[in-house]
Amino acid sequence: MKETETSIVEQVQGLIENLCNDSDAQLEKGYEEISLHYRSSSTSSSSLKFSPSHIWAYALARMPATCGVATSILKRLIEIQPDFSPDSLLDLGSGPGSMIWSSLDEFSSLKKIAYWEAHPLFKNLVTSVREAFFAQSKLDFEEIGVTLEDSSQWTQFHAAKTQFDMVWASYVLGELSDSDQRLLLDRALMVTRGILVLSEPGTPEGFKNIRQARSLLLESGAHILAPCTHAQGCPMETSSGDWCHFPALLERRDIHRRIKNKASSLPWEVEKYAYLIVSPRELAPYVIETTRIIKNPLRRKGHRILDICSSSGEERVVVSKKNGGLYKKSLKKNWGDIWEIE
Ligand SMILES: C[S@@+](CC[C@H](N)C(=O)[O-])C[C@H]1O[C@@H](n2cnc3c(N)ncnc32)[C@H](O)[C@@H]1O
Repeated sequence: MKETETSIVEQVQGLIENLCNDSDAQLEKGYEEISLHYRSSSTSSSSLKFSPSHIWAYALARMPATCGVATSILKRLIEIQPDFSPDSLLDLGSGPGSMIWSSLDEFSSLKKIAYWEAHPLFKNLVTSVREAFFAQSKLDFEEIGVTLEDSSQWTQFHAAKTQFDMVWASYVLGELSDSDQRLLLDRALMVTRGILVLSEPGTPEGFKNIRQARSLLLESGAHILAPCTHAQGCPMETSSGDWCHFPALLERRDIHRRIKNKASSLPWEVEKYAYLIVSPRELAPYVIETTRIIKNPLRRKGHRILDICSSSGEERVVVSKKNGGLYKKSLKKNWGDIWEIE
């Protein structure tokens, strides 16, 4: 997408704002309730029944953040797989279709979109967006009506050679029990031909779900592409309470700001996330040996401090001005970037 074009995510946000007849007060209340629900429950077993106001509030004030996270992750993906050009996408636990709209912004190659979602009101919202924007397009949309538990349906799915170049499960693991997370990951891997992406909140709990997924996926033979630059044990499993997370900077529309945080007039916010990009098969390595910057780099007089994670674990690297080119390179690096070992 060109910088000057209105993104699909923005257009979808505008459409949803027009479709929604709830007052700001209803949306604010809906948002407070879903926030409380997500903050208070480690799994979906908690019992908030999503009402229409919750769905609108999610789409108008939460989806911008999950889409912002997706954009940030997709940039990482493109950085390491620049030739990746998916034809097909499956969005697992699509909610209002957040990953669909974000992925369409990044990949004009997409021709086939499938989504899997339990909530009828979220499904209706995806249908409304499809009808408004894609009725005349050649994009093929399909809702996948299988239940998580029914392995025969997934096996049939697989037997029909239904696999996708890209599969997303964004902010879904945290809604599932440990055993259902395992099931979802098995199913997801089964239907992934190219890349599987997982994203979760950048909290200790979100990271715990990503770390567990990482272990399970490695055991199943998957190959990790990011954020880890290695397949060794995760150093943060044992270390000092650290959790691997990254920032995504996102713009806030007026309605987003009004619903979420009236007190703040900032037109942007930072959403922290944890993520994992894997592939069922080994893809060509993009560089021989790299590390990932896992905290905000510190700028000090005459040197820069980078906290990195590599196959040797977590490490602090000090790059001094005396290192010349390397120091200059370090100034361009941010939290979440790759740091090549020289
Ligand atoms: C927090 S929302 C995330 C929505 C979207 N992926 C995003 O990132 O904005 C999680 C979604 O997963 C869906 N979900 C949870 N368990 C599911 C299941 N067993 N089958 C289908 N959808 C499920 C929920 O209905 C909800 O829409």
